[in-house]
Amino acid sequence: MTPRMKLAQRIAALLALIGGGLLLITGCRSMTRHEWLTTFFDGVPPEKSAPPAAPGAAPAAPAPTPVAKPVAPKPPPNVIHRPFAQNECAKCHDRSSISSGEMKPQKELCFSCHKDFLAGTKVKHQPAGNGECTECHAPHQSPNPKLLVKAGNELCLNCHDDPLEKKKFKHQAVESGDCLDCHSPHASNEKKLLKKPVADTCADCHDVVAKKKVVHQPAGEGDCLECHAAHASNNKKLVREPAPKLCWNCHDDFTEGAKFKHPQVENCTACHKPHAAAEKRLLAKPVAALCGSCHAEKDLKAAAGHADLEGKSCTACHNPHVGPDANLLKPPRKK
Ligand code: HEC
Ligand code: HEC
Ligand code: HEC
Ligand code: HEC
Ligand code: HEC
Ligand code: HEC
Ligand code: HEC
Ligand code: HEC
Ligand code: HEC
Ligand code: HEC
Ligand code: HEC
Repeated sequence: MTPRMKLAQRIAALLALIGGGLLLITGCRSMTRHEWLTTFFDGVPPEKSAPPAAPGAAPAAPAPTPVAKPVAPKPPPNVIHRPFAQNECAKCHDRSSISSGEMKPQKELCFSCHKDFLAGTKVKHQPAGNGECTECHAPHQSPNPKLLVKAGNELCLNCHDDPLEKKKFKHQAVESGDCLDCHSPHASNEKKLLKKPVADTCADCHDVVAKKKVVHQPAGEGDCLECHAAHASNNKKLVREPAPKLCWNCHDDFTEGAKFKHPQVENCTACHKPHAAAEKRLLAKPVAALCGSCHAEKDLKAAAGHADLEGKSCTACHNPHVGPDANLLKPPRKK
């Protein structure tokens, strides 16, 4: 231990003694603390937040005609950093640097008492990784839990644009939830500081493939972000792009160059479930019921090719998407 640190510790001990006694007598008024600081340290900055001295502010005297509206008292800080509360100033400061702040780079300083939670992590949040701890934490005291400089999502929005801004559709989990439901504030082994892999993040609140016979591969594998935005989107259901463009990201565009298209072919989700289904090919319903939901039986009966539909699937004769003729007929099976 350097002599300088010893001195600083003695000063701290002295402060603790005097400060402790003083607290008993006067209560925890910051002016008092400031006065004592200026007694012991050079360069203690003037108190910006101290209310201007009100000359006629005798506590018992009732003011009949108040000139100015009294300033509402600030809520007292309810979280005090333990070493600060215990006046262990010298654990973080020495005499020469008390006015300018910390004595070591913060990463070193804070991790001299706290477990280094950055060590061995793959993804570090830039301000934490750079040791800018006081961008988010007050070193002494704060009205917010965990000594945070701002509470809740406001903290994150200090530096990040509101991900919901100017978007038509907002994810309720972000709108009325907490950024920290999904993200870590310091570091993580997942991309984008997620607390868990994407699949598990979403599965905490959604089960889109539950007990279904047929599962769409990307949904089954938890690749939700292939199709969805995490925070907000201008497309309903938070899809990155509406169908069919969304589908053409992975499937060959079978409508391209087709001579005849089913008039509803681009409405992919009218017939297919995006995640999972009880029917093969992810169909929303069994084929007859699916086609029947738009084609009335009496209309179908009028068509000559439909003389005997009994027991035959529509797709035995029709392509559902595109075809070489207007009726999307499949070429007759070669025997
Ligand atoms: C846990 C470490 C720690 C302890 C304990 C601590 N401080 Fe600080 N203090 C800091 C850090 C870090 C800053 C710089 C804050 C910043 O950069 O925003 C600071 C800043 C200051 C400042 C500059 C003005 C301000 O508030 O930003 C003063 C004065 C100060 N501390 C005095 C004290 C006194 C007196 C004590 C003991 C009662 C004390 N500190 C205890 C870490 C600590
Ligand atoms: C001298 C040791 C020491 C140093 C240095 C120190 N801390 Fe602490 N800190 C503590 C102790 C002790 C606690 C209380 C631990 C507990 O309650 O589990 C604490 C608690 C905290 C908490 C949690 C407060 C709460 O309400 O739960 C935060 C956040 C924190 N410290 C941040 C920091 C940051 C940021 C720094 C660096 C600027 C720092 N600490 C430096 C000792 C220290
Ligand atoms: C981007 C903002 C941000 C930065 C930068 C940051 N923290 Fe935090 N820290 C938080 C938030 C938010 C929490 C509360 C997490 C929670 O409640 O789950 C927290 C919690 C903590 C805690 C309490 C952990 C617990 O389990 O109670 C400690 C200690 C802490 N931070 C230390 C640090 C140190 C040391 C640094 C710098 C290396 C740092 N933080 C940088 C936002 C930040
Ligand atoms: C002091 C400023 C600051 C605060 C406060 C802050 N961030 Fe960041 N954050 C950054 C910077 C700088 C980056 C890196 C550049 C970028 O990607 O924008 C970043 C990156 C990120 C990333 C992307 C990480 C990656 O690997 O691509 C996420 C996610 C994130 N922040 C979430 C949060 C959350 C959640 C909070 C609130 C707990 C928060 N941030 C608070 C400055 C901040
Ligand atoms: C429901 C979980 C969830 C919540 C809540 C959430 N995020 Fe995210 N966030 C994600 C996911 C998932 C990604 C990765 C997106 C990607 O890679 O396409 C992400 C990415 C980010 C990124 C990286 C840049 C980007 O947009 O891809 C930042 C920054 C970010 N989030 C900040 C925030 C902030 C700030 C909040 C709170 C207002 C928040 N997040 C709330 C899940 C969430
Ligand atoms: C903390 C819980 C929570 C998490 C985690 C979560 N969500 Fe949500 N999500 C909700 C709630 C609540 C709603 C609104 C009610 C509903 O539609 O189920 C919602 C709605 C949605 C919607 C429909 C939006 C609309 O406009 O109808 C989609 C799509 C969605 N979430 C995707 C995701 C994805 C992808 C993830 C993972 C990155 C995820 N969610 C993680 C809670 C969550
Ligand atoms: C292949 C693209 C794709 C993938 C992958 C995907 N979704 Fe979807 N999701 C959609 C489409 C398209 C809709 C809108 C369906 C509609 O409009 O009927 C949707 C709708 C939703 C909804 C709204 C409620 C509902 O069921 O209609 C939620 C919640 C949702 N998805 C969550 C998830 C989650 C969680 C994952 C990852 C396990 C995921 N999605 C993977 C395309 C996808
Ligand atoms: C992220 C890539 C991806 C996207 C986006 C995507 N799919 Fe798929 N889809 C696949 C994969 C992989 C398979 C399984 C392999 C295959 O059959 O080609 C598949 C299979 C299918 C199947 C056949 C399922 C079965 O059981 O035979 C249908 C139907 C389907 N997708 C429809 C859609 C529709 C509709 C969309 C748009 C809403 C879409 N897909 C978007 C990747 C994707
Ligand atoms: C009118 C209802 C309907 C619409 C709209 C529709 N499909 Fe299909 N799709 C079907 C039927 C029925 C099958 C099953 C065909 C079979 O089993 O012979 C199928 C099969 C598929 C298959 C499995 C491979 C194949 O070609 O048999 C994929 C992939 C597919 N559709 C993607 C899409 C995409 C992408 C869209 C939107 C561009 C779309 N479908 C629109 C009814 C439809
Ligand atoms: C979402 C509604 C919808 C569904 C589901 C639907 N169709 Fe259609 N279909 C139409 C509309 C609209 C037309 C054009 C007007 C008409 O002929 O009734 C059409 C036309 C057709 C045509 C004539 C082609 C043309 O260009 O006029 C055939 C053949 C056809 N559908 C077959 C099917 C089959 C087979 C299914 C089931 C796999 C099916 N449709 C499911 C809406 C639908
Ligand atoms: C045995 C083969 C066969 C089956 C099975 C069949 N179709 Fe057709 N369909 C045809 C033929 C051939 C035509 C064209 C000649 C005609 O107008 O009769 C046609 C024409 C159509 C047309 C367009 C002409 C119009 O007047 O509406 C629609 C729509 C249609 N079918 C829907 C269906 C649906 C829905 C099913 C299942 C319930 C189905 N078809 C089952 C052979 C079949």
